[in-house]
Amino acid sequence: MDILSRLGFSSIRWAKDHLVILDQRRLPLKEDYRELRSVEDVSDAISTLAIRGAPLIGIAAAYGLCLLPEPSNAEAFENACGLLKSTRPTAANLSWAVDRMASKQNECISHDNLLEILIEEARSIHREDELMCDRMGAFGNEIIPDPCRILTHCNTGALATGGIGTALGVIYTAFFSGKRVEVWVDETRPVLQGARLTAWELSKAKIPFKLITDNMAGHLMSGGQVDLVMTGADRVAKNLDFANKIGTYTLAVLARHHGIPFYSAAPSTTFDSDCPDGQSIAIEMRGDDEIKKIGGSQIAPPDSQAYNPAFDITPHELIKGIITDQGILKP
Ligand code: MRU
Repeated sequence: MDILSRLGFSSIRWAKDHLVILDQRRLPLKEDYRELRSVEDVSDAISTLAIRGAPLIGIAAAYGLCLLPEPSNAEAFENACGLLKSTRPTAANLSWAVDRMASKQNECISHDNLLEILIEEARSIHREDELMCDRMGAFGNEIIPDPCRILTHCNTGALATGGIGTALGVIYTAFFSGKRVEVWVDETRPVLQGARLTAWELSKAKIPFKLITDNMAGHLMSGGQVDLVMTGADRVAKNLDFANKIGTYTLAVLARHHGIPFYSAAPSTTFDSDCPDGQSIAIEMRGDDEIKKIGGSQIAPPDSQAYNPAFDITPHELIKGIITDQGILKP
């Protein structure tokens, strides 16, 4: 049985004339599938993190453009592209997928079967992402020792991509190839993608893991309990600096201090050749309530001000390499 089938869920699916997503806000308590029937539904699902992870929101946006009532209306198509791109500015895959759909729409605008052409293009984006995940898994497996205790951050698995995942895909591949892998899962404040989503995926895969709070990583590393750190990336610059979930940079600094190898895994669609370095990457800022509340419950005085950058930049000097679908890039 392949790894995706072992996991037994699907984070996104095109169903003839609408999109079905697994609503990630409800996990792990509820496995709730939601139907999206308009571009606005899709943009709302992306903004509110019902669907998330750089490759997956690119796939969702591509399918989202197939929900336009008149795909040959150039102005409406352009507005929809702008709306989708504006939802989450840091993830390179989102604008990449929207631009690919826009150029297909432009090329085929006079075809009678434009909608079918667009659906096929979105399906190709989805399928290609699944294949890139498998390739990252195979390349990444080469650098995983046996046994290995891997620390990871955020969620980079089947909930974040169209396939088995980026960093988590490498972990799945190593584990199912027979290696003795154990995972330290950072809970990943403020939205808890580690505690809610990565822990859920690893439980389903029956991979041994322990959940930790984000501030425990240094303690574990200094105690010799981490062999390798692996994360995903939301945008990789030309010099291999990259943006990823807030807290990634802290882990990279800690890993360097303790002499622990740090790898990121990202498909080609996350690389931005127009971006020279990390300083040029726009960081998405999110609302105060993600910090002031946990699971909807207020944890700080309501009048507190918060600061909530969703991503940080890890400079290339701190990493050992980036695992891609083409091989492993060394800075
Ligand atoms: O805010 P999120 O949950 O979309 O952030 C996701 C990440 O930071 C992942 O590490 C990233 O998208 C790359 S892995 C698919």
